[in-house]
Amino acid sequence: MTGKEGAGDIPVGELTPLEAASELQALAKEIARHDKAYYQKDAPLISDAEYDALRRRNDAIEAAFPNLVRKDSPSHRLGAAPATGFAKITHARPMLSLNNAFVDDEVMEFVARVRRFLGLAESVAVALVCEPKIDGLSISLRYERGKFVLGATRGDGTTGEDVTANLKTLNDIPEKLERAPQVLEVRGEVYMTRKDFAALNRSQQAAGEKIFANPRNAAAGSLRQKDPSITATRPLRFFAYAWGELSEPVADTQWRFLERLRHWGFPTNPLGKLFERAEDCLAAYRDLEAKRAKLDYDIDGMVYKVNRLDWQQRLGQVSRAPRWAIAHKFAAEKAMTRIAAIELQVGRTGTLTPVAHLDPVTVGGVVVSRATLHNEDYVAEKDIRVSDTVIVQRAGDVIPQVLEVVKKKRPQGATPFKFPKTCPCPLKTPLVRKAGEAATRCTGEMACPYQQVERLIHFASRDAFDIEGLGEANIQLFFDNGLIKQPADIFKLKTKPQEVTEVVAEWHRLQSAARQAAKGRPETAGAKRKKGEEYKSVSNLFAAIDDR
Ligand code: IVH
Repeated sequence: MTGKEGAGDIPVGELTPLEAASELQALAKEIARHDKAYYQKDAPLISDAEYDALRRRNDAIEAAFPNLVRKDSPSHRLGAAPATGFAKITHARPMLSLNNAFVDDEVMEFVARVRRFLGLAESVAVALVCEPKIDGLSISLRYERGKFVLGATRGDGTTGEDVTANLKTLNDIPEKLERAPQVLEVRGEVYMTRKDFAALNRSQQAAGEKIFANPRNAAAGSLRQKDPSITATRPLRFFAYAWGELSEPVADTQWRFLERLRHWGFPTNPLGKLFERAEDCLAAYRDLEAKRAKLDYDIDGMVYKVNRLDWQQRLGQVSRAPRWAIAHKFAAEKAMTRIAAIELQVGRTGTLTPVAHLDPVTVGGVVVSRATLHNEDYVAEKDIRVSDTVIVQRAGDVIPQVLEVVKKKRPQGATPFKFPKTCPCPLKTPLVRKAGEAATRCTGEMACPYQQVERLIHFASRDAFDIEGLGEANIQLFFDNGLIKQPADIFKLKTKPQEVTEVVAEWHRLQSAARQAAKGRPETAGAKRKKGEEYKSVSNLFAAIDDR
């Protein structure tokens, strides 16, 4: 690193916090200097590789010392010049859409159609590339002599908006390509991970800003910012999967085209597969559907594409969709249900979140019985009331949310939901909502038992101390029994093994009795847990605490 020789040589794992903070400060300054030279003066001072090394070092230190991430961190802000507005761009080749298939037969029919059109016998394999259909927004990136010159949204497929300055802030989009054709247009999907989306909504909420309904909206809103320095703070990502104008062919198959994209530095979806038999594609579709909820980004189906590009060429397109590809859609992750109650949840910093208790409903294969209502404004804007019939949406691990109220199903007498004036906790502390803020907060701070439990849950959670076996239920249990009141008490649990074991055993006994009662039967001997099991789970817990 210039001007600070040797600083970057210490392995990140060996840096002291002081060294890390000082290096992060130097890196922020250094990267800002190069951003300015590159974006504003178009006169880079170092090679792309050297610049990338600086950013990687910065990212690695930030990952190891998350509490030292600076306000002016280069990972938050990139130095693109502000955009003045979005000019309209006519795509050199239209951006097509895809025909949809909803059942296996329609996929088999697609393959049969391809064969008929090409005059292929049944015995000739039609290899297909199968990849997830990303639920983001499609964009086109134009490279001339290997330099990124223009980036546009899809718009209506013929005309989109020039969002070049904003796209330049994405780390997934290379600025320069080695050994690229004179003209190369790369197309793909800009998206946001579910985790990043949830974090963005949390900070939007805390800042009293707009809450996004889903990762796709958040990605679209973030990309269409007038000020690219705001886009730069948003965690946008990109998967490349198609092309527009090309001055020369770059591959002879779809699969090899993806390989070339990766060589140029574009991310392609790691779940993409190549199969010769349609049955294998259908099996991959089912596999993907099973994985869907666990993926960190939204997908809404699988896309099958004829692998041979000469065949794609011959197949051409009908109206706005190619004959050589089809989207096999998943069942919708939305469902209709009724709000049985609205409860206010107190977070660890005292923020109150209204939560809807729903009549259980299956959404995308998972039973959902609660949905977040975000804050007071969200409830008021959508006019969400107890007993309303609502549309709920689930996106993976993100808490399900209420998208809209089906007003015509509203029962008579349903009254608007009123935020209370006091905390639902036993202390009934007054609530406050500061001017300009979306959040309503409990003023009880350390005294509010709900906040205390949330702080303990956070302390033991994966994002903090990561104590296995000390989840929400156990913390609530130990808190209610006076075994832990503050984080330090967790480490004293070991000194009271008898009490801990008794509390855990009693809890299991009550749970099992409740289960039996729900089935209308008295508690059976078989349903009772053995004492040894309690000891085992408690000693596992002590071992996990010792590990910290
Ligand atoms: S291929 C000419 N592959 O889905 C074919 N599209 O509903 C170009 N999409 O407009 C599209 N993931 O925005 C393709 N792996 C993928 C995709 C994908 C998402 C989007 C794309 C397209 C829309 C059609």
